[in-house]
Amino acid sequence: MRFFVPTDIYIETDCVKNHAQNLIAVGKRALIMTGQHSAGANGSLNDVTKALTAGDIPYLIFSEVEENPSTDTVGKATQIAREFKADFIIGIGGGSAIDAAKAVALLLVNPDVNADDLHKAPSHLLNHAPIVAVPTTCGTGSEATPVAIITNHKINLKKSIPHVIFPVLALVDGKYLATAKKQLIVNTAVDALAHMVESILNVKSNLLNRMCPEYGLKLWGECKDALIASVTANNAAAQNAAQDAEQNATDKNAAPIDASLYEKLMLTSTIAGMSIAQTSTAVPHGMSYDLTLHAGVPHGPAVGYFLAAYVEVCAKFVPQDVEKILSLLGLNNIEEFDEMLRKLIGTCTVTREMRDKFAAAMKTNRSKLDLVPGEITPEDIDYIYEKSLVVE
Ligand SMILES: [Fe+2]
Repeated sequence: MRFFVPTDIYIETDCVKNHAQNLIAVGKRALIMTGQHSAGANGSLNDVTKALTAGDIPYLIFSEVEENPSTDTVGKATQIAREFKADFIIGIGGGSAIDAAKAVALLLVNPDVNADDLHKAPSHLLNHAPIVAVPTTCGTGSEATPVAIITNHKINLKKSIPHVIFPVLALVDGKYLATAKKQLIVNTAVDALAHMVESILNVKSNLLNRMCPEYGLKLWGECKDALIASVTANNAAAQNAAQDAEQNATDKNAAPIDASLYEKLMLTSTIAGMSIAQTSTAVPHGMSYDLTLHAGVPHGPAVGYFLAAYVEVCAKFVPQDVEKILSLLGLNNIEEFDEMLRKLIGTCTVTREMRDKFAAAMKTNRSKLDLVPGEITPEDIDYIYEKSLVVE
């Protein structure tokens, strides 16, 4: 048995400020990678630039990371990092910004590798520049994993690149969730839930690495009622709003999530990342990528739609593990688990053609199927798709 997360992780309020010395010790010139808006709005970018300025570390901000970052974006940012002579990368945001930062850190010190070849480049032989991760959503866990999910639009592929890229430093602060939309918090929290469930219902799960998902699921269970209340209030308010602009306003009026809960959700997300760093994600994540790539479904819900049916199938193989997961979450049975997820993320409708195409592809995805703790059959896979998606 082995447990390996070589990242220096700090989780606390005012984390960047408190550990500015750790941040400026990472390198001499920084490329900061963010999405377009949220890092500015939630204060994380300001915290980081303040610390860098105080430490006399020159930096450049690349704020063009899109959701599901592409090889094109990674290539462009790498070029900018080279011209700036950056020697470390800071990813601020959700999984997209941090994953893109990992890919840029890899390319930065491997000039012979093209961004479009990231998915096929040799996996263990390449070094990377140091990465600092400052997460601002509570789902990805990318600050504590070696994984970077990158999309190559030229070959229609959304997948993790085959390199092991852990951040050297993670600065985690729940206060950055305060300005996030409630549905984003819920969506990313569902992703964290999936990371922990898939880590336990996994052939790589063992007595040592279970300490992470088991503790994390208990914490997640303590947040679930507030998450459900928040999204329920949000949906009711949105129904009453006539226009988009008003919907944004109602989101701010949705049931508030207590600040202590932000910290707990962020802690849980990092623990969930540590969980999949040991086992990797399993079938629901494998199924989610097509839904995101071809139907535009955000990552958290795309995974969450498949979760209850995956748990149901795994109950045939490891019933005691399923029981443990449910009890840690404070749930009595899989039906309650399913109902909770529907309340949080609703349902997803696809065409039969899409559903059949996704299922056919999944049946050959050995990298995920081989992680199932039992003999999953093609019929099981069809069952998961049938149960999880509404077909129009
Ligand atoms: Fe995920």
